[in-house]
Amino acid sequence: MKTLLTGGAGYIGSHTAVAMIEAGHDVVVVDNYYNSSPEAIRRVEEITGKKIALYEADAADAEVMRKILHDEKPDCIIHFAGLKAVGESVAKPVEYYRNNIDTTLTLLECMREEGVTNFVFSSSATVYGEDNVPPFTEEMPKGVCTNPYGWTKWMQEQILRDATVANDELSVVLLRYFNPVGAHESGKIGEDPQGIPNNLMPYISQVAVGRRDHLTVFGDDYDTPDGTCRRDYIHVMDLAEGHVKAAEYAVSHKGTEVFNLGTGNPYSVLDMVNAFSKACGHQVKYEIGPRRAGDVQDSWANADKAKAVLGWEAQRGIDEICRDAWNWQSHNPQGYDK
Ligand code: NAD
Ligand code: UFG
Repeated sequence: MKTLLTGGAGYIGSHTAVAMIEAGHDVVVVDNYYNSSPEAIRRVEEITGKKIALYEADAADAEVMRKILHDEKPDCIIHFAGLKAVGESVAKPVEYYRNNIDTTLTLLECMREEGVTNFVFSSSATVYGEDNVPPFTEEMPKGVCTNPYGWTKWMQEQILRDATVANDELSVVLLRYFNPVGAHESGKIGEDPQGIPNNLMPYISQVAVGRRDHLTVFGDDYDTPDGTCRRDYIHVMDLAEGHVKAAEYAVSHKGTEVFNLGTGNPYSVLDMVNAFSKACGHQVKYEIGPRRAGDVQDSWANADKAKAVLGWEAQRGIDEICRDAWNWQSHNPQGYDK
C-alpha cells in the first residue's frame, strides 16, 4: 500500500512514517515545514534505510495537491497537517479555521478528481468536550469544545462524515488521539516544540535536560487521588502503529468509522513527573501553580473498539514513554537542526 502523509515531517507523522515503512508500506510525505523540519524525514530515512518521496507543499493548495495525487496515486491519505496549539488557537482563530478546515476540503476535492478514496484523519479526544465522563467511548455524543482548535477537529470530523454519506466509494477513519508522548526507541526522532512547550511531557523533558528551571504543575486541588489532572498518555510509536492498522482498515472498508487511540489507563501530572524522574536519574523540579484555564480534570479512553475491530492495542507503558522521551531529549537537547 502507498500512503500519503500530509504533515508527515511533524511529530506524529514522522513516527507513523517509520511504522508504515516497517510494516512494508510505501510512504509519500507532504509538509510545508510550518512546525517541522526536513531533518525529521532525513532521520526517518536513517532509521528505516528507505528513501522517502518528500514534497514541500501546502496541503491546502489544490493545484499542487492535485498534481501530487495524480503523480503518486496513493492508496490512502493520512491527514496530519494542521495547527495544534490550543492557546494560540484562541488568539488566532481565523488562521486555525483557515488552515485546518481548508486542508481537509482541498484534499477531499482533489481526492474526488483523482480517484483517491481512502482517508485517515488525526482527530482528538478534545471532541468529547467537558460534559462526557471518562472513560470516553466512540458512541458518546461529541461535546462542546473549549477552544477554536478543538472546534476545527469537531468540524473536520463532520465534514468528513458528510462527504462519505454523499459518496459511497469513500472510506474515512477518524482517529481520536488521547495524549501522544515519548519518542522512537532510537532517540533519532521525537517531539521538538518551538518556543516554550505548552504540553506537559516536552516541558518535563526540557526541565530534566536543564533548558528550563522547573515545571509548574497547573493545580493540585482537583478531585483526583493526588489533586492533579489525569490523562491517557500514549507512546507515540503505539499511536503510529495504530495508524498502520487504521490505514489497512480504511482501504478494505467504506463509510466512516471512528476509533479512540489511547491506552485506557489514566495517570496524573505527578505520576508523570515521578516516572520521568526515575527515567532520567534525578528529581525533576516542580512547583504547584494555579489551575490552567480550559483544562478538564480527567480524560482517558475506552480503547476496546480499536482492539476489537483493528486488532490494535497500546503495548508500551509510562516507563517506556519516559525512557524514550529522555533518550530523545538527552541526545538532542535543542531538538532538530541544532
Ligand atoms: P506537528 O505540528 O508536529 O505536525 C503537524 C505537521 O503539519 C507539521 O509538520 C506542520 O509543518 C505541518 N503542516 C501544518 N499545516 C500544513 C499545511 N497547510 N500544509 C502542509 N503541512 C502543514 O503536530 P503533531 O503533534 O504531529 O500532530 C499531528 C496531527 O495530530 C495534527 O492534526 C494535530 O492537531 C493532531 N493531534 C495532535 C495531538 C498531540 O497532542 N500532539 C493530539 C490530538 C491530535
Ligand atoms: N500541565 C502542567 N504543567 C505544564 C503543562 C501541562 O501541569 O506545564 C498539565 C495540564 O494542566 C494537564 C496535563 O498536564 O493536566 C496535560 O497537559 P497537556 O497540555 O500535555 O495536554 P492536554 O491534555 O491539556 O492537551 C492535549 C493535547 C491537545 C488536545 C487536548 C484535549 O495537547 O491538543 O489534549 O484532548 F486538545
